Formats: sequence, C-alpha cells, structure tokens
Amino acid sequence: MKNIGVLTGGGDCPGLNAAIRAVVRHAIDAYSFNVIGFKRGWAGPLEGLIEPLTKYAVSGILPKGGTILGTSRTNPDKVEDGYLMIKENVKKFGLDAIIAIGGNDTLGVAGNLQLKYDVPCVCIPKTIDNDVACTDYTIGFDTAVSIATSAIDNLHSTAESHDRVMVVEVMGRHAGWIAAFSGLAGGADLILVPEKPFNIDEICEVLKKRHKRRGKSFSIIVAAEGATSDDGRLNVTTDKTDAFGHVILGGLGVALSSEVERRLGFEARYAILGHIQRGGTPTPSDRILATRLGVKAVDLVARGETGKMVGISGGSVVSVPVMDIVETDKRGHYVGKTKTLDMEFYETAKVFFG
Ligand code: F6P
Repeated sequence: MKNIGVLTGGGDCPGLNAAIRAVVRHAIDAYSFNVIGFKRGWAGPLEGLIEPLTKYAVSGILPKGGTILGTSRTNPDKVEDGYLMIKENVKKFGLDAIIAIGGNDTLGVAGNLQLKYDVPCVCIPKTIDNDVACTDYTIGFDTAVSIATSAIDNLHSTAESHDRVMVVEVMGRHAGWIAAFSGLAGGADLILVPEKPFNIDEICEVLKKRHKRRGKSFSIIVAAEGATSDDGRLNVTTDKTDAFGHVILGGLGVALSSEVERRLGFEARYAILGHIQRGGTPTPSDRILATRLGVKAVDLVARGETGKMVGISGGSVVSVPVMDIVETDKRGHYVGKTKTLDMEFYETAKVFFG
C-alpha cells in the first residue's frame, strides 16, 4: 500500500477535476492506495494544506470546470528553504509520490523536487496553452479551442453585419496553439502568433485587398496575447509579473484594432476572450485525455516509476523522464521547456488568409 499526494498548480483549466477523479478512483480501486489532496498548488505541500481524497470526495466532479483542490502560482523558490519545507512535509505525510498536475511552471517545480531534492514526482501536463514539451496535447487545450472557436463564429456574424474588422485576442503567452487551432477552425482571415512577429504594414495590405473584393468588407483577426510586432511598437505588456517572473499580458487586441482603424479607416473592434477560455465544463476529448493520463500516472507510481511525466503521442499514452521536459535557467534551476506551435498548422491556416 502506498500514499500519494495530488495537486493542481498554475492557471486552472477544464479537465483538472477529471484528472483528479481518475487518479483517486484508480489509486483506490486498483491498488488500495491512500490519496491526499494538496490544496492550492505548491502552497499545499509547502504549508501542509491537505484534505483526504476518497471516492466520495471525487464523485460527480468529472464534468466540472476548475479544480476541487484549488490552485495558485505559488513558487517554492520564492520562499526561504521552500523546497526543503516540501521535502519535510512529504516525509511527514509518509508520501511515496506527489502527482503534480500542471503546466510548465508547476512541472518545473516538480523537476527540481525530483532531480535535486530526491522527492518522487509523477507529472500530468495541463494548460490551455498546450505548450508543455513531450506531449502532443495538454488537458484543457481542447476546451479552450472550442470556446474560442465558438466566439469567433459569433464575432463573424456581427463583423459581417457591420462591415468591421474584429480582432479576437486569445490566450497564449509564449505559444500560438490556441490562436492557430481556433483560427483554423473558425476561418480567421489572419492569425498572429508569438512564434512569428507580425508586420503591421503587411497586415493592413492583406485587409485592404480583402475589403476591395466584392462582398468581403469585414475581417476576423485572431491574435495570441503574446504576439508581437516586428518593429517592437505593438508589443503589449504590463509592468506586473507573476511569482514565476512572467509578465502579465493583455491588450494586444486594443492596440491592434485602433492601429488598423487609424491606418485604413475601417471600423474596427476587439474582443479579449481572457479567462472565459479557461472556464466551464471540459469537452469530451479533455475528459478522456485527463482520465487516460490520470490512470497512467497512478500505474507509474504503482510500478515505482516516478520521475516521469505522462503524455500523449500519436494518440497513445506515453511516459517520458522528467529530465526531458525541463531545461535549466541561468541559476541552474529546472524550468519547464516550452513547446512552441508546430508551424505546419500556421502554414495551413495561412492558405485561407485574406
Ligand atoms: O495558463 C496559462 C495562461 O492561460 C496564459 O496564456 C495566460 O497569460 C495566463 O495563463 C494568465 O494567467 P492568470 O490567471 O494568472 O492571469
């Protein structure tokens, strides 16, 4: 019999509860493990915030958005002896492993715990941004794409009725996965991603040509929040950063729509989807992904195969060493490696630009 602690860290996303349910149900039914939940991301193991996770506790949570455990962007590196405090608590609770469900920041912490502090971890990748290395998809991405696509569909009809340019700003700090997928699915006339700095003159040229064509006096631009212009003028950031040092973004849609209006005289509006993309009920694909990854994570713990991340590759559930999903920063700390957009998707979407 083993003891497992499970946590969700970083930004919430639909499918986290499905993953927690899978971990708890499989751990209890197949192996009679004891499972505790850590509250509020890495704050849980740091401060010893726990709750027992029984089958009863996870009953009915499969279709629910958010996370019953709560989450936070707590970074143990920002707390004196933070990592040692976690190690101590893992010992105190008699845990054989932590199952960390998170994106690059959360999994980077798991990497440090596993590789530097010898705390056994198994990682499950989640983030609407889909930017975790060594997995084709992360939990939450499919739901975010579906929300963004339906927003683009709605904005299409109003843009068309008013002859407007509509800029739809989606999340995607370092990677343009949501922008490319929702733009492809929603028939965007232009897509801007962080991987490819955009040129405002070129954008205006495309829009001008498109609006000259009969019956095409409206346009939809899907822009990832982290996209930047090649002249550095439309790189929209705030002066605030989170606990992992990421600048809080937001506002590209505002800047871009007013620039387009100023240059071309076309009426332009923006819609910033923001956290709407992270909420609500998970799609069937996200529930299935979360369930498959949760079950596999428990199987790894049972086999003593900690120090790994579960993921999806070519449709199959796989596991990879934690070492493969991290890299070191300037201080020699492990941080999650960013998986940027596979530009094949962008090139396909580009066929339909203009
Ligand atoms: O989870 C990643 C992400 O969705 C980014 O795309 C976005 O910049 C960030 O979260 C926003 O996070 P917060 O909820 O802390 O504002």
